[in-house]
Amino acid sequence: MADQYAQTLDGEQPSATGPLRWEEPPEGPVVVLLDQRRLPAEEVELVCTDVPALVDAIRTLAVRGAPLLGIAGAYGVALAAARGYDVAEAASLLEGARPTAVNLGHGVRRAAEAYGTAVGRGADVRQAAAAVLAEARRLHREDAEASERMARHGLALLDELLPGGSHRILTHCNTGRLVSGGEGTAFAVALAAHRVGRLRHLWVDETRPLLQGARLTAYEAARNGMAHTLLTDSAAGSLFASGEVDAVLIGADRIAADGSVANKVGSYPLAVLARYHHVPFIVVAPSTTVDLETRDGASIEVEQRSGREVTELPGPLAPATAAGAAAGPVPRVFEAASGVSGALVAPVGTRAHNPAFDVTPPELVTAVVTEEGVVSPVTGAGIAELCARSRQV
Ligand code: MRU
Repeated sequence: MADQYAQTLDGEQPSATGPLRWEEPPEGPVVVLLDQRRLPAEEVELVCTDVPALVDAIRTLAVRGAPLLGIAGAYGVALAAARGYDVAEAASLLEGARPTAVNLGHGVRRAAEAYGTAVGRGADVRQAAAAVLAEARRLHREDAEASERMARHGLALLDELLPGGSHRILTHCNTGRLVSGGEGTAFAVALAAHRVGRLRHLWVDETRPLLQGARLTAYEAARNGMAHTLLTDSAAGSLFASGEVDAVLIGADRIAADGSVANKVGSYPLAVLARYHHVPFIVVAPSTTVDLETRDGASIEVEQRSGREVTELPGPLAPATAAGAAAGPVPRVFEAASGVSGALVAPVGTRAHNPAFDVTPPELVTAVVTEEGVVSPVTGAGIAELCARSRQV
């Protein structure tokens, strides 16, 4: 059973509490998500009381972005353990919810291992559940710390690459507080630049087809008072040509052993543009996004999503439902994925190609910034060295 419901909080801003939290009301533990499908129109929380509900939230992008998927996966295992479900089955459901962001499997496996270790040491069900929850909380905290360190390393790199800087940064998709235990990855670097007065402008790609840039990054930029402008993805080329982009900052869903970077579809064309125009193309991701078991870019599984996300345009978002009511009307931006009709923009029956991600080869990436430091040039050896460093800690 997928058991979830929407809630609005009277007089409280769910966004103030972050995109995900664990709660233990009298009816039993729950994972509470800020429903990203409904942003920016409204801040509504989605309460997941079981693992199928959380899996559904992951598939429909109520919760999304690589680092947060790892955190969600770990809390999902904690939910299974606390509610007495089969932990191995829950872990496999969660890990299989989306294929590309390696953090999801990482978070799920870490939590499941904590459960196995506790049981192996003779813990009872309650103690084992507590051990998994502690592990999920640790991962959550570590991600917040990583975010802070990435912002520091990223800002230092920007200052080194663009001396005298007042930076005009182009970003794609959404990589801020909404995807993280902290302030995010690429967005956190732009935010750090903004705070020290060195962000002249943030160019925000709308990020077709699900508009993570328009709906979420513009929302985060506005909340932080950052000067920003939204553009269609296809307008980026002319912006580079007119010399208005100093650097590209993006996140990553998986970095292969050779340094290839999978990120939101549209990242690779930006890397090609950046190279042509001699603009640094910088990837910011925690070391948990590096996957040494994936040899190269061609080995990365790219999620293919419903063509209806392309052939049908999102309309206005649905209104909020009353506190505690059933999830309510699905926001139109996600209707296509859920099978309800959106506004058709192509002839009936048109097939659409809709990969959620693309892969940028390492030679087009100026630098990978992680919490452990910067890899540049981006090579297999550099990535291996970074991993050796982070796994020693
Ligand atoms: O499909 P999404 O919205 O989960 O895709 C998210 C992205 O592609 C982000 O750029 C990536 O996860 C990095 S976030 C730090």
